[in-house]
Amino acid sequence: MTVITKIKWVDYVVFGLSLFLIFCLVFDSYIELPRLIAWLGRWHPLVLHFPIVLLLLCVFLGLTNKKIPKLLLTLAVIFALVTAISGFFLGKETGVKGELLFWHQWLGGGLALLAAIWYWLDGVSIENKILTKILQVAIIGLVFFTGHYGGMVTHGEDFLALPLEKREEKIPENPLIYKDVVGRILDKKCVSCHNPNKKKGELLMTSLNELLAGGEVGNTIIPGNPQESELIRRIHLPIEDGDHMPPDGKKPLDANEIQILEQWIAKGASDTLRLQHLEASEPLAGLIRNLMQPDPNEKWVRLPKVADSTILRWSSDYLTIRRIAGGVNALSVNLYKSPAYEAKQLTDLKFISENIVQMDISGIPIGQEEMNLVASCPNLEWLEIDQTPISDNELDTLKVLSDLKILKIYSTAISDKSIPVFKKLKGLQKLYLWNTKISSNALNELKNANPTLKIDSGIDEELQNTFVKQDSLSKN
Ligand code: HEC
Repeated sequence: MTVITKIKWVDYVVFGLSLFLIFCLVFDSYIELPRLIAWLGRWHPLVLHFPIVLLLLCVFLGLTNKKIPKLLLTLAVIFALVTAISGFFLGKETGVKGELLFWHQWLGGGLALLAAIWYWLDGVSIENKILTKILQVAIIGLVFFTGHYGGMVTHGEDFLALPLEKREEKIPENPLIYKDVVGRILDKKCVSCHNPNKKKGELLMTSLNELLAGGEVGNTIIPGNPQESELIRRIHLPIEDGDHMPPDGKKPLDANEIQILEQWIAKGASDTLRLQHLEASEPLAGLIRNLMQPDPNEKWVRLPKVADSTILRWSSDYLTIRRIAGGVNALSVNLYKSPAYEAKQLTDLKFISENIVQMDISGIPIGQEEMNLVASCPNLEWLEIDQTPISDNELDTLKVLSDLKILKIYSTAISDKSIPVFKKLKGLQKLYLWNTKISSNALNELKNANPTLKIDSGIDEELQNTFVKQDSLSKN
């Protein structure tokens, strides 16, 4: 065993930094940093990448029994120590250290010190291969866990969760209003600063009890009284106001979200209230239902691209083609009666049939050719073919439109023979079919087969209800 006695100045640096780090970790709670020093902590996210790469490189060489260049190991160790110390400074800027930060700090500190021990062992050239190997493996583990906790501190606990799980979860049927709606709004827009790791204003927003307990100012939420609740007051302040929440620069709550929070507090800020407990006419119920609608734009991202120039070229005085919303490739097609109508006006659109989600060709003298075009639009959701000459024969073509939700087909010659087609359209939500040859028996059969389908066969359902109500009132 040869002990190198020549101590170089780098050894002092490593020794000094190690001592300083140990001091920081041990006396954490007694240390107050001057602002300039605390500012050094801001470099932590930048420098931390160096020791990760350098240490892993050293470990790789070590485990594969190659010689580790002394300079490489020295740099790795110094960077590890500097990173740990800068991380400590950064942590000082966070008022209260939560569990994640606690673990990140101690794992990172441990990693740097372990690297320093390795440096020292290497310096004295102790031929203890097993010990060095254990140390190297431990370093890999520490790099992984330190990084993992660090990621969770900065990006939230589910940072490394699979992207699939990270996607916004669908709100369940009959949601719990606190857990599934209010809680998610807060998670998305507030919890990043009001959690155990970053307890801004001494306010935690990760559970209802914590919200009710409030923060520094207090009165965060007063059940039944949104006007007096600090949380509501702050989200209504002008964005320039220093008290506005979330602070300027963060994505603010939208009008829908603000109303949901207000109404939920007005209803007593309960965590057991469900959507079904609310009357359908209550504003809160409507707001939540809005939220439960799938985002239409997302549904259409997979459609083939359609250029604005294409839309312009094919539009005419009698044919309007429009995007359903700005920037989406889902189109709405409206055809108006022209003196020189020919089927070609519509059948020419075959090349964008995948993009057509709404079509209004009511009042046009259409036949089988046009119906074939309609049936070739697999994403069609809304179709108006009322007041046209179509009959049961042509209607049969439509049975492939599985996405069709709304069908206006009143004032046509269709009869009971078309009922099987309607039954096949599983996605159908609303059907307008007064003034046809369909019998009331067939209608009832259809209603039984598809109870969620709303059929408008003349009298508006709401009108019918009030009609029935008034009728029974007059009897009393
Ligand atoms: C970027 C960080 C950040 C985000 C995001 C954020 N806050 Fe804050 N919040 C703070 C800070 C900092 C304070 C303390 C300073 C103050 O009182 O203005 C605070 C204080 C508060 C307080 C006062 C607590 C008390 O009793 O003193 C409330 C209430 C509050 N926030 C609500 C919210 C709500 C609601 C959201 C989400 C819509 C939100 N915050 C999002 C940083 C944030």
